[in-house]
Amino acid sequence: MKVTDRAYALELDKNDPLAPYRSKFVITDPNLCYLDGNSLGRLPHATVKAVSDFVSHEWGNEVVTGWSHWIDEAQVAGDLLGRAALGAAAGQVLVCDTTSVNFYQLCLAAIKARPGRKTVITDAANFPTDRYILAGIAEQLGLNLVIIDNEDPAVAENELITAELLEKYMSEDVALVTLEVIQYRSGARSDIESITDLARSYGAFVVWDASHATGAIEMNFDEHGVDLAIGCTYKYGNSGPGSPAWLYVSKRVQKELQVPIQGWFGKPIDYWNSWCANRL
Ligand SMILES: Cc1ncc(COP(=O)(O)O)c(C=O)c1O
Repeated sequence: MKVTDRAYALELDKNDPLAPYRSKFVITDPNLCYLDGNSLGRLPHATVKAVSDFVSHEWGNEVVTGWSHWIDEAQVAGDLLGRAALGAAAGQVLVCDTTSVNFYQLCLAAIKARPGRKTVITDAANFPTDRYILAGIAEQLGLNLVIIDNEDPAVAENELITAELLEKYMSEDVALVTLEVIQYRSGARSDIESITDLARSYGAFVVWDASHATGAIEMNFDEHGVDLAIGCTYKYGNSGPGSPAWLYVSKRVQKELQVPIQGWFGKPIDYWNSWCANRL
């Protein structure tokens, strides 16, 4: 049998352990070969039911009384996502807001936690929204934004930032380094542990953008000593348009960081306990 035979291809399909997953997704055009999971995953049948049940049964039946349990969903969904896709123990992941908002919040919180330091490092191949947010923060706070030119093959192969390359840019003035776990164009995979360790040895934080890695690869944040990360759920996580993003703040650094958007959800648990006691 030749590798170009149709029969050979069908045989491979039959023995593919992932083949049964196909039936879990809504496929309206069987001839469409959908390879755009890095932008928006396919719609799972289970999601159609879950969203419809939520709207008709929970919202429909419970109206405002549902608030008391919906309000905890950021943590409940965060723990689930952390366990299933990030290698994160409970109490460190929230599913909330958008990737851009979470990125802004974590970067600003990290910079504020390193007062006096004036340098932020990222890479030229990073996703546009991340670079724009960093440029905005740098302008607002008068910081020096260093952009590693990893689009130049003489600087980096396939845009990959290694700890060795990053070290050339590190100093005691660096508050924050931020990179993608998987480069969105080249697919290069960063070594999250060695880069986080290097930045930490200079007293700096790393915020990882794991949008293109979530649901696609094992990341094991806790095991690799990651401090801060964000990502979306609508690519390999197969959630839909408008779905919330997530953020990860390791237990180690939670007390060091202050939520930049200081609304009521940024208040400590004591505030909530007394608010609930007075109101309910
Ligand atoms: C790597 C990366 N970071 C950030 C974003 C921005 O996400 P959002 O527009 O949902 O805030 C995207 C969107 O595709 C992305 O791919």
